[in-house]
Amino acid sequence: MAYSWFKAFHIVGFVVWFAGLFYLVRLFIYHVEAEQESEPARTILKNQYEIMEKRLYSIITTPGMVVTVLMAIGLLSTEPFLLKQPWLHVKLGFVVLLIGYHHYCKRLMKQLAAGECKWGSQQLRGLNEAPTVMLIVIVMLAVFKNSLPTDITAWGIFGLIIAMVATIQLYAKKRRQDKEKLSAEISQVPQS
Ligand code: HEM
Repeated sequence: MAYSWFKAFHIVGFVVWFAGLFYLVRLFIYHVEAEQESEPARTILKNQYEIMEKRLYSIITTPGMVVTVLMAIGLLSTEPFLLKQPWLHVKLGFVVLLIGYHHYCKRLMKQLAAGECKWGSQQLRGLNEAPTVMLIVIVMLAVFKNSLPTDITAWGIFGLIIAMVATIQLYAKKRRQDKEKLSAEISQVPQS
């Protein structure tokens, strides 16, 4: 019974953790883009994003990580034989990468607050894809364990996911280009 409780809150924990990680980098993108605004909008927006990032990091993202790890420790102490499973070793490798990413986000947050961030909004958009890949790999390992499927259905699902991600990216790119075109047109309108 304890095992099921640990597993339930392990899942709750990582859902919260990932929600925080995805939204945090999205806020970084808006924060960087606020630089293009004129004053006083620029300062107001940057201050607001700084507050939102700090709260999101400390109230949602970090507690999500702590709950995930604590519940995982609970799972492993209930079923210690799992520690010998190869899938868990690979999963732990990805979790270490994920924790590194989490801490790197904290560093970026501090750099943004100090006006020292070197990342552009396009690069941050790319960075925001990293946790998606880790999420898919970690969940696949947790569910399929030592027997990751390689049959035609598995490849079909994989292809579908790739197609979905590519469509979303193309749509986002088109929206960005339309927005840039519109602001270029607006700036060419003569002021009366
Ligand atoms: C400290 C790092 C982690 C450890 C040690 C760990 C360990 C475990 C263990 C022992 C289980 C139970 C497996 C079973 O009942 O067969 C489990 C389940 C699960 N974990 Fe993790 N985990 C960690 C982090 C994560 C993260 C970051 C995610 C999500 C990205 C995740 C996703 C899952 C899922 C979806 C399950 C349920 C699998 C199922 O019942 O089929 N875990 N984890």
